[in-house]
Amino acid sequence: MQATYVVTTGHRSGAPELELAARLSLWLGVPLVPRRGLSIPALINKYKISGVLVVSNRRVSFFCNGEELFWHPSMAKLRIKEIKAGKTDWMIEAMGLQPGGWVLDCTLGLGTDAIVASFVVGNQGRVVGVESSPVLAVLVQHGLKTYRDHVSRELLAAMARIEVVCADHLSYLKNLASESFDVVYFDPMFRKPLQKSKAIGPVRLVANPAPLSIQAVEEAIRVARRRVVMKETRDSGEFARLGFTRVLGGKYSPVAYGIIEKKGGTD
Ligand SMILES: C[S@@+](CC[C@H](N)C(=O)[O-])C[C@H]1O[C@@H](n2cnc3c(N)ncnc32)[C@H](O)[C@@H]1O
Repeated sequence: MQATYVVTTGHRSGAPELELAARLSLWLGVPLVPRRGLSIPALINKYKISGVLVVSNRRVSFFCNGEELFWHPSMAKLRIKEIKAGKTDWMIEAMGLQPGGWVLDCTLGLGTDAIVASFVVGNQGRVVGVESSPVLAVLVQHGLKTYRDHVSRELLAAMARIEVVCADHLSYLKNLASESFDVVYFDPMFRKPLQKSKAIGPVRLVANPAPLSIQAVEEAIRVARRRVVMKETRDSGEFARLGFTRVLGGKYSPVAYGIIEKKGGTD
């Protein structure tokens, strides 16, 4: 959904929040409006809009359809803990990721997968995340830089390493040199959403719902040195449609990872 929205501040915000709100409204190209004690529904009614981006002294949130979307590390903390305990992370397995690797995440979303990849590649590696929704790009960029609630040093370092780009992945891929990243990764909005997924719920308000294009996969194959990986539900038909012949994942999980291996790529 392409929301029409405005930017404002929280009820108790000061000069720094106003300054950030002004910068974001300029960058997003949407109006900055004074809060003046108004509730979110009152703002929506007053300006005839569908969403409000609020810069408060706690965080930046997007309110829409009665829901609040804000950045948090989601499952990244737990997944990193499990990787450290020697458990298999199927995304990392599918990527064949090693320290020092370069990953291009073409569907950044809130960046959970990118954080896990960034943790694994470490400080010698590189993770670039591309997100086409400007609201999501703002939330993830700001969250990765400012979120500090019970964050370990290694999580913080993994978050800080991610380079956020707001762009459509096809145009971004077209401008990259061949074989410039080890792995190119896609996690598009599922064709058949999993009702159980709470984490993705509010993301749907602003995410780009388009299916992954064959053209984007072809460009990804050119840009990847080793592998192109896509996350999808097993029964979506997307792996076959897009040419992902090898599929990995947990036995009981509805979600799996398709792999396209470059010729001469290592396992
Ligand atoms: C399922 S979410 C990704 C979740 C992410 N892997 C995570 O761990 O948080 C898919 C994201 O891809 C973005 N997206 C979809 N098509 C895109 C495109 N053509 N270019 C860039 N981003 C795109 C959507 O806006 C959405 O935020």
